[in-house]
Amino acid sequence: MKNIYLLGATGSIGEQTLDIIEKQRDDFKLIGISGYSNFDKLVEITRKFLPEIVVVKDKFDKEKLVKLFPTIKVEFGRQGLKTLATYHKEDQDAYLINALVGMVGLEPTIEAIKIERDILLANKETLVVGGHLVSLLKKQYQFKLYPIDSEHNALWQLMNHENTKDIKRLIITASGGSFRGLSRDELKNVSVSDALKHPNWSMGNKITIDSATMMNKGFEVIEACYLFDLDIDKVDTVIHKESMVHSLVEFNDGSILAHVSHPDMHLPISYAMNYPNRKVTHIKPFDLMLLNNVSFQTMDLERYPCLNFAINAFKIGGSMRTVLNAANEAAVDLFLSGKIKFLDIETIIEEAMRKHQVIDFPSLEEIYELDSTIKEEIYKKFR
Ligand SMILES: NC(=O)c1ccc[n+]([C@@H]2O[C@H](COP(=O)([O-])OP(=O)(O)OC[C@H]3O[C@@H](n4cnc5c(N)ncnc54)[C@H](OP(=O)(O)O)[C@@H]3O)[C@@H](O)[C@H]2O)c1
Repeated sequence: MKNIYLLGATGSIGEQTLDIIEKQRDDFKLIGISGYSNFDKLVEITRKFLPEIVVVKDKFDKEKLVKLFPTIKVEFGRQGLKTLATYHKEDQDAYLINALVGMVGLEPTIEAIKIERDILLANKETLVVGGHLVSLLKKQYQFKLYPIDSEHNALWQLMNHENTKDIKRLIITASGGSFRGLSRDELKNVSVSDALKHPNWSMGNKITIDSATMMNKGFEVIEACYLFDLDIDKVDTVIHKESMVHSLVEFNDGSILAHVSHPDMHLPISYAMNYPNRKVTHIKPFDLMLLNNVSFQTMDLERYPCLNFAINAFKIGGSMRTVLNAANEAAVDLFLSGKIKFLDIETIIEEAMRKHQVIDFPSLEEIYELDSTIKEEIYKKFR
């Protein structure tokens, strides 16, 4: 029996994780959850699973939740996420599942590492902004870090018993997102509702927009470098619009291994939660004949400048990745609230990166400070 501490229970990954916990009640026990703006959904989850600790957005929500569930411990905010990540410090038969969106996921990940709790990571922004900190902590603490992101989960499965030195390159596939058929000119006036219609995956709003700009793939390239300790020149991306091949690994002997399945996040989440076992999922069997109709296309960095920004930010290193992420979070938020156009997202990120003076190895506090400075500057302009 594994005890589960779930950050971001109200989100898309959170919800799919709860499905698995519910189906495998003999294998997993939900001890703690967090939510943020969706208070009603958090109440519903709390009522269903009766966890020991719940983390809410602020003290007002705390007061409301305590009234509803007087015996449950309720915490809030940044401190609350840290408390949840390290709750029952001595509990070693546990997983922290990080399904938060945004850089808020970094600090609880670090706190969990420091108590040597194993982590299942969906929150890619953790490694984008704090990969250097996590890499350093890997040398000091014993913990496992299992990727939930579908492409990285596929790569993990493909490389399980392989030597890193035998790997020629990783190939991460990209569906191309909601606007993959459109030219740059046609992107000028696209709407928020169209941007949120991903052709293959049902995901949270932020990652759906990141998929349309291809920033998501940029984040995944950075994530892969840290997860698998590989140089960025060994991580390639390719457009594969059917989202059936989730990633590929090319080896020095000429072999290429590919991971194939229907696009459904239950699979990578279940694999990580049950590793090294595989449990039956509800996902329908894959008909091999579907592979007769798959396509691969070279990635076009001019069509998708955000991917290029991410690669450059990784190469420049240090705090440039915080700037990349902060500018992206603010710009996506402004787009979702109708304050800017789709193509403004990339202009905002490019400008923030151009102006930035790099700090080589930013600490957690420097990352938080820089994140809020960059976001404030951007929000001020579009108020
Ligand atoms: N969804 C996918 O299929 C998928 C696939 C691969 C990787 N990922 C990655 O997994 C992570 C989660 O994605 P998602 O699609 O599940 O996102 P989502 O649906 O937007 O859910 C995000 C979760 O984080 C909470 N949250 C948002 N802002 C917060 C804040 N400032 N402080 C504390 N909690 C906050 C949300 O709470 P409320 O909803 O209550 O506001 C929600 O529980 C992202 O890093 C994403 O890139 C997702």
